[in-house]
Amino acid sequence: MKLSTITEIEDLRRIAKRKLPRMFYDYVDSGSWTQTTYRNNETDFDKIKLRQRVMVNMEGRSLGTTMLGTPVNMPVAIAPTGFTGMMWADGEIHAARAAEKFGVPFSLSTMSICSIEDVAAHTTAPFWFQLYVMRDKEFMANLIRRAQAANCSALILTADLQVLGQRHKDIKNGLSAPPKPTIANMLNLMTKPEWCFNMLGTKRRTFGNIVGHAKDVEDLSSLSAWTAEQFDPALSWDDVARIRDLWGGKLIIKGIMEPEDAILAAKVGADALIVSNHGGRQLDGAPSSIAALSDIVQAVRAEKSNIEVWLDSGIRSGQDVLKAIAMGASGTMIGRAFLYGLGAFGEDGVRRSLELIYNECDISMAFCGHTDINEVNQDILVKGTFEHLKSAPPFVTPINW
Ligand code: GLV
Repeated sequence: MKLSTITEIEDLRRIAKRKLPRMFYDYVDSGSWTQTTYRNNETDFDKIKLRQRVMVNMEGRSLGTTMLGTPVNMPVAIAPTGFTGMMWADGEIHAARAAEKFGVPFSLSTMSICSIEDVAAHTTAPFWFQLYVMRDKEFMANLIRRAQAANCSALILTADLQVLGQRHKDIKNGLSAPPKPTIANMLNLMTKPEWCFNMLGTKRRTFGNIVGHAKDVEDLSSLSAWTAEQFDPALSWDDVARIRDLWGGKLIIKGIMEPEDAILAAKVGADALIVSNHGGRQLDGAPSSIAALSDIVQAVRAEKSNIEVWLDSGIRSGQDVLKAIAMGASGTMIGRAFLYGLGAFGEDGVRRSLELIYNECDISMAFCGHTDINEVNQDILVKGTFEHLKSAPPFVTPINW
């Protein structure tokens, strides 16, 4: 299939579903418990309407802006996602290269398959490293040192995954990297020849930042086991201050959903915060990220803080990016949208997902009468469609296994 006939992220999702082993597709395409928050992340974007303007000169458009002071070709970064190297062999390297060529930031998860050093060795642009706070403080400090040595330009501290939200499908599928040789897995893998062939060509098949680096971890296959044992549920703002000092560079806090926490993130000296409910994978029943955004932007502005406010969770199109920017975010992150591209076509698929988002954001901005993303604000939104998302009735559909 020609990539030019891929016209929306949904095309990439369908192809990724066909090509990926079931456990990895399900890992990406699911939320916690009833998946209500996961769905609302997308459906709340649909409720926001854009104002069409005409007879406005649409020439010379630009989506270029900055994130953490660094120029980006559009206000979209690749989010840190676990198991990325299970979506495509050496997936983190491919996604990082696609991001670098496109001129947007790439973030590497602690729970990646390719290690910090692997990604650094195969890219030239500095990337961001996402840290989970561990009980084993020496291991965590070592991860920070490794990120410094790899010239990572920012540390993303994930605040909302000290305990793991239950994702039913991961339990039912026995999610692990690499997949365990059970009969069910073998039968499923037999229907995924391209994936199997690609995976035979790489040695990177488990968590590269951890296995062989953390004490007593020679064989780690399951995120849930590692989280339960190792992630520190007692994480506090004092720990964040200690990590900030240990890191000494740009700090991003991910997983902020309430204005009180946004103000604390600003007070601890973070350079950016990410309004995020972890793609609806943690607190099921939380509002969508886009519904939480406005109050946080207002709270931070009232404090006269310079912290940048970004958003992730629910972005599947350039229009979603445009709406998030109009609602006050100065940057966004995509997770599933790039993972579908990666699962479908590797690096080319990630590039295609970035192109689709870019083109849709650019053209939609033009229809709204703007040529510069930095000048987009709430004026492009239809009044009454964006102010009360938090109190809007939830959208619930039954889950089909
Ligand atoms: C990890 O970040 C996950 O959501 O699985």
